[in-house]
Amino acid sequence: MVHQKPAPEYVWRGGVENMEVERLHAEAFDHSISNHDWNAQLERSLGWVTARSDNLLVGFVNVAWDGGAHAFILDTMVSINQRRRGIAKKLIDQVRAKACEAGCEWLHVDFEDHLAEFYWEACGFRATKAGLIDLTR
Ligand SMILES: CC(C)(COP(=O)(O)OP(=O)(O)OC[C@H]1O[C@@H](n2cnc3c(N)ncnc32)[C@H](O)[C@@H]1OP(=O)(O)O)[C@@H](O)C(=O)NCCC(=O)NCCS
Repeated sequence: MVHQKPAPEYVWRGGVENMEVERLHAEAFDHSISNHDWNAQLERSLGWVTARSDNLLVGFVNVAWDGGAHAFILDTMVSINQRRRGIAKKLIDQVRAKACEAGCEWLHVDFEDHLAEFYWEACGFRATKAGLIDLTR
């Protein structure tokens, strides 16, 4: 019998433990685990979406905002063994709906070249000019 992974449950502003978000982030962005206080960071967000499968955090996205028209997607991430099942697309769909509900008019994201298919084709973002300064240098 083929064992199918259960469909995750998606929750806007769902409760998280700092360490489970940090573990997922370390896996997704390939860094070592720190004791980052995710809950303190999320207090300043418009919101975030959790995807849980059998109660395990398998997907997450954070949404920063300016308190007005602009919302900013940060840290879209899905655990490695759950990718290409449409989980990130559902996370972004929920962000889009919630940002609309909050009265935002623009949803921003920046990303590396290899994710253009995901953000442009799958999620419907369009290209725009953006700027960046590395403040650590
Ligand atoms: C980027 C990421 C969140 C995508 O998660 P995912 O759940 O696998 O994405 P989805 O299954 O919703 O993808 C939907 C579609 O987007 C496109 N897509 C997704 N990941 C892609 C990739 N790595 N390369 C090219 N296209 C991709 C595909 O068209 C895909 O549909 P398909 O599987 O039917 O071909 C995940 O790969 C990840 O966590 N990466 C590491 C962290 C990261 O770089 N996050 C982005 C920060 S901006």
